[in-house]
Amino acid sequence: MTATDLSGADDSRAYDLVVVGSANADLVVEVERRPGAGETVLGSDLVVLPGGKGANQSCAAGRLGARTALLARVGDDAYGRLLLDSQRAAGVDTSGVLVGGAPTGVALITVDPSGDNSIVVAPGANARLTPADVRAAGRLLASARVVSVQLEIPLETVGEVVRALPAGTRLVLNPSPPAPLPPEVLAACDPLVVNEHEARYVLGDGAGGKPEEWAPALLALGPRSVVVTLGERGALVAEGSVAPVHVPSPQVDAVDTTGAGDAFTAALACRLARADALPQAAAYATRVAAATVVRRGAQASYPTAAEITAP
Ligand code: RIB
Repeated sequence: MTATDLSGADDSRAYDLVVVGSANADLVVEVERRPGAGETVLGSDLVVLPGGKGANQSCAAGRLGARTALLARVGDDAYGRLLLDSQRAAGVDTSGVLVGGAPTGVALITVDPSGDNSIVVAPGANARLTPADVRAAGRLLASARVVSVQLEIPLETVGEVVRALPAGTRLVLNPSPPAPLPPEVLAACDPLVVNEHEARYVLGDGAGGKPEEWAPALLALGPRSVVVTLGERGALVAEGSVAPVHVPSPQVDAVDTTGAGDAFTAALACRLARADALPQAAAYATRVAAATVVRRGAQASYPTAAEITAP
């Protein structure tokens, strides 16, 4: 756990953020063009980096100085040790990281010159993070101001996190990769954080043409609040009956967008833990995400709080 306390709120919970999610070794190749179906392309030498949407979020939060813990499962192997080392270097409490049962999850990633990527994940140990593991970590969850989950772990495990959520603890959910969400999970989100692909998936046939239409449509499905991330165009924030608020992003030259969404969600969660309003938290998160895309890799690209300048 880091010594720095980001929180201004007046309660004694030990963690600003507890992340429940995946941890992957990212096997990254840079390519001139991401291959289409049936195509073979030559790329750069392979680079192995710590990743996974859950581990990325906890690493980003730790780097920003939030008191952070990760509940995840990795294999008893070299990739598992790579991931644990990265978390500890970021100041994350890894007492909730379970080891063994299956090999560490792996993500196969291609990155093109525009910084865009394609990712395939072999879940490995992530698929063995069970509802029983969540129940066993009850004390960890009870110590969190904010709990954050994604969907690279089993959906029933996410459901158990929702059932285990203590009163007064805020849930942040990024449904990535997207899957059908039970109503009780949707109803617990505060906020539901989606990019454009995820928004279209969650809305299905109900998706209109414009992000401004998605935010209220997503709210109508039950979440307490919604954030739609729009890449270099920033984010849309929606809560209650007020019109969605557009939060712009700093303009930067992206070299690798891998893990930028995870950094955004982590930064948002950190600021919500210290009781920022949602638009202010999203404004901070866009600055953190912009700082990550100018460097390569996911966790390797995450900034410290000191590197995030005021608007
Ligand atoms: O969001 C980026 C992450 O997606 C990568 O680090 C990869 O591991 C996959 O989980």
